[in-house]
Amino acid sequence: MYRIAVAPGDGIGKEVIAEGVKVLQAAADAENVTLQLDYMDLGSDRYLSTGELLTDDDIKFMRDRQAVYFGAIGDPRVAPGVLEKGILIKMRTTFDQYVNLRPSKSWHPYTPLKGEKDFDILFLRENTEDLYMGAGGVLNGKEAVANMALQRGLYDVDLSLSSKASSEQEFAFEIGMMSRKGIERFADHCFETAKRLGKEKVTAVDKANVCTSLYGLWRKVFNERSADHGIDVEYMYVDAMAMALVRSPERFGVVACPNMFGDILTDLGAEIMGGLGVAASGNINPVGVSMFEPVHGSAPDIAGQGKANPIAAILAGKLMMDQLGRPDIGNMIEFAVKMAMKQKLVTADMGGTLNTVQAGDAIANIVRSSG
Ligand code: NAD
Ligand code: IPM
Ligand code: MN
Repeated sequence: MYRIAVAPGDGIGKEVIAEGVKVLQAAADAENVTLQLDYMDLGSDRYLSTGELLTDDDIKFMRDRQAVYFGAIGDPRVAPGVLEKGILIKMRTTFDQYVNLRPSKSWHPYTPLKGEKDFDILFLRENTEDLYMGAGGVLNGKEAVANMALQRGLYDVDLSLSSKASSEQEFAFEIGMMSRKGIERFADHCFETAKRLGKEKVTAVDKANVCTSLYGLWRKVFNERSADHGIDVEYMYVDAMAMALVRSPERFGVVACPNMFGDILTDLGAEIMGGLGVAASGNINPVGVSMFEPVHGSAPDIAGQGKANPIAAILAGKLMMDQLGRPDIGNMIEFAVKMAMKQKLVTADMGGTLNTVQAGDAIANIVRSSG
């Protein structure tokens, strides 16, 4: 038996998680496995009525279970960042889910890329550091920047800022920071994953030609760990990587990204496989509670209309079963998704005619008839 916390969240999160649960249930039944699904009320409605984001009770609830199955958060009634940082980022950091796993593979004929080349990329996104650490604020004047740096003992800080505009009185900043320990554990996971998948190299993405301090440390650690693991590392600047992902995605296998670039490149990774509607993600703590969700958000533009593609959420369920040690159930789910795609039993974003519930039913039926 597996005990799972289910948090549908906002917007289309509610619609797609309902279908994901349907498919998970069907696959678990086929293998005589019991899933105990315990629902949580997280998101904008609760925040707007009680002011609560991710509470201590929520955290305890999740800690008592083996995994979290999450929909999406985000609501136009709430200022940007409140729900995103207060719920999603807090979940990832509280449970120290330092690897964000985001597969991108060619789903023919749904990939918009020309030709028939197959690609199968595993994006691994560092999930706790970089520009996501909350090291931000607003300062008045360059003096204040210097004082802040000195007060904190950051004597290595280079204050000869390169932009002419930095003489302005009001500075806003958001610092990208990574720790050696944070990069080491992430790099180890990337190289171990490459080894497990039989890959010869890891592609590490950065912007080491401009952000020399931050991604200088990143490269130093990746070089060290590459030697330790006996797996090559190839570096790509993030701009060139965006181009290469469209032009020749078949070149890549395991792709390691810092948090922010990983966020951006995995929406691109979603689009080249067939759209955000099929992109799944796992927020992994290899020794703790992991959380599984679609890459997409709450999509307020289509919420409540039955238009959302449930496949991303369904495949997030697949990643969850894999992580829980049941790849047999995970494979059954992925096979059913493949069959539904082949038979064009898909929603309008993929050129089909089904609504969210019909698309979920179609996949659950294939699971039942194949299991
Ligand atoms: P989004 O991912 O919600 O939507 C982007 C576009 O893709 C929209 O046009 C949407 O209709 C479409 N789309 C997304 N998922 C789809 C699906 N399953 N089927 C069909 N079409 C789909 O991104 P956004 O509009 O930039 O953000 C909306 C809100 O969601 C914001 O508040 C944002 O902060 C939040 N967000 C949350 C998460 C998360 O919870 N993990 C992820 C991304 C964005
Ligand atoms: C994602 C989302 C989140 C992120 C936001 C909503 C905090 O875009 O899961 O990709 O930036 O990680
Ligand atoms: Mn994103």
